[in-house]
Amino acid sequence: MILQGRIAIVTGAGSGIGRGGAEILAREGAHVIVSDLSAERSEETVKLIRQAGGSAEARQTDVRDNDALEKLIADTHAEHNRIDILHSHAGIQVEGSLEEVTVEGLDDSYALNVRPHFVAARTVVPHMREQGGGSIINTASNSGVFVDEGMLAYITTKAAIIMMTKQIALDYAKSNIRCNALCPGWVDTPFNDPYIRQMGGREAIENYVSKTIPMGRWASIGEIAESILFLASDRSSFMTGHALVMDGGECIA
Ligand SMILES: NC(=O)c1ccc[n+]([C@@H]2O[C@H](COP(=O)([O-])OP(=O)(O)OC[C@H]3O[C@@H](n4cnc5c(N)ncnc54)[C@H](O)[C@@H]3O)[C@@H](O)[C@H]2O)c1
Repeated sequence: MILQGRIAIVTGAGSGIGRGGAEILAREGAHVIVSDLSAERSEETVKLIRQAGGSAEARQTDVRDNDALEKLIADTHAEHNRIDILHSHAGIQVEGSLEEVTVEGLDDSYALNVRPHFVAARTVVPHMREQGGGSIINTASNSGVFVDEGMLAYITTKAAIIMMTKQIALDYAKSNIRCNALCPGWVDTPFNDPYIRQMGGREAIENYVSKTIPMGRWASIGEIAESILFLASDRSSFMTGHALVMDGGECIA
């Protein structure tokens, strides 16, 4: 097990990719603080981890609440005396072009896709510096490396978090704190439900994915989880400031 003795915090870990990431970190020996807006979903992830023989605890946290997010990190450090991995994962997709996105939609996007990553990283780095290093993973998207029609709020917030990731990586490299961005393409999680409805349902999205993605399919959660493990662990020990894209070739098509 390559994460034995490590302490990890994952936000948005009650479903989908966040859950898959929490599970793989625990499988490799980390103790995972499973944090989500939903207490119930956090508990469910912890149950799955424990059933598989891993170690985890659940914490209900709305990452848009700065104080709650800082408290999550402070409490974790107070209890475990170190934090090796921070995966800031929770995010939101607000569709629309410049004239369609409301000011509230833009603010909501920054409040969930950018600000919590900033708050969490700035709260965790003093602890990581003191202990001699750590790995911060910010979930962005392949949508942060290209432009897409009618996706102004999502694209710009995901691009912003990629640049913030690079900036953090540069500023903290000498403290052995690595910071990388996770950039998945299409993964079939509840996150896409509003977009699927907008596109006209399941058949329409399956058609879209098979035609638009060069590899002709969705990513599985397990495939993305492997990348989370890579970024979190010493397997990527010389990688920092990188935006790791796993999208079946969508961004090169
Ligand atoms: N699924 C995809 O196709 C895809 C692709 C690229 C990037 N992403 C990114 O992955 C993240 C979504 O992950 P997913 O696809 O596993 O979605 P998901 O819907 O399966 O899970 C998202 C989880 O985040 C939690 N959450 C929502 N708001 C929160 C908040 N304010 N505070 C704390 N937790 C909150 C939800 O309760 C839920 O459990 C987003 O950052 C998204 O941009 C997803």
